[in-house]
Amino acid sequence: MAKTRKRLRIVVIGSAIMDLTTFTDRFPNPGETMFGNQFDLGFGGKGANQAVAARLCGAEVDMVSRVGDDIFGPATIENFQRQGIGCRDVRKVKGASTGAAPIFVDPSGQNRIVVIKGANDTLTPDAVDLALPRLRRADVIVLQFEIPLKTIYHVVSLARELGIRCILNPAPACKANFRKIRSVDYFIPNETEAEALTGKPIRTVNDATASARSLLDMGFRRVLLTLGEKGVLAANPDGVRHFPAFPVRAKDTSGAGDAFIGCFATFLAEGRPEEEAVQRASLYAALSTRNVGTQKSFIRRRELDAEWSQRPRS
Ligand code: RIB
Repeated sequence: MAKTRKRLRIVVIGSAIMDLTTFTDRFPNPGETMFGNQFDLGFGGKGANQAVAARLCGAEVDMVSRVGDDIFGPATIENFQRQGIGCRDVRKVKGASTGAAPIFVDPSGQNRIVVIKGANDTLTPDAVDLALPRLRRADVIVLQFEIPLKTIYHVVSLARELGIRCILNPAPACKANFRKIRSVDYFIPNETEAEALTGKPIRTVNDATASARSLLDMGFRRVLLTLGEKGVLAANPDGVRHFPAFPVRAKDTSGAGDAFIGCFATFLAEGRPEEEAVQRASLYAALSTRNVGTQKSFIRRRELDAEWSQRPRS
């Protein structure tokens, strides 16, 4: 008899944003108009991307988010519905615009992103309380920094109170009160965010190791520091371990960090050992860079499983 996987519940409390991605050979100088190579319009936002990645990896996912009353708001909600993501707690805010992100991608696939938060800034602690029936059933709660900090603090303390595992992706980096967030189970910055938080530049894996240790010293219990093509570091009081990246030919790295987090949350919720969850998520993130866009570059679980069975691992 075929074994069926238990479906785990993940609640993502975070942003939904429209991504306007331009592919260009270089960036224009001040006052210069130039031609780009390609444009892509897609659904994004770190929260929404992480929710979609978790869903595609096999989790039941509920989203708590806010969109504007412009053309992108209803389209964003329909996108969640199409993906099978619960959106009882995704509401349209009168008079607000949906979040938007102009993204620039260079020929190496590297991205630069500007986020205009719009309706995401109206996701208050009260809005989270309205989602309590969904939150109480969650195996894992996932958060990022594209919503108000007071909401993040509220959710982190709520997660503790309810005994639900909580993952915080401090992206984009901003000045937060560490005492209010360090009880999260996993703190997952990338190198830019870790640099901003610790004040220590990261050029090498050794720099990253020192940075991960500083984050532990600041009181975080487990840190996963994502390093793009250099892989990922898993740090906890027992030590720091480096997992090299899976080699791929990258076209667009936008959303790769979100792919990592959504996938990691799913394998964590499934009860896989941390080391396996990190490596599977790392492969999922690498594979997402082969295609253009954020959510639209994420693959399904069966494709990930097939790649996982073929790839040599450390
Ligand atoms: O992490 C990538 C995401 O960052 C994009 O989808 C963009 O919307 C910004 O939130």
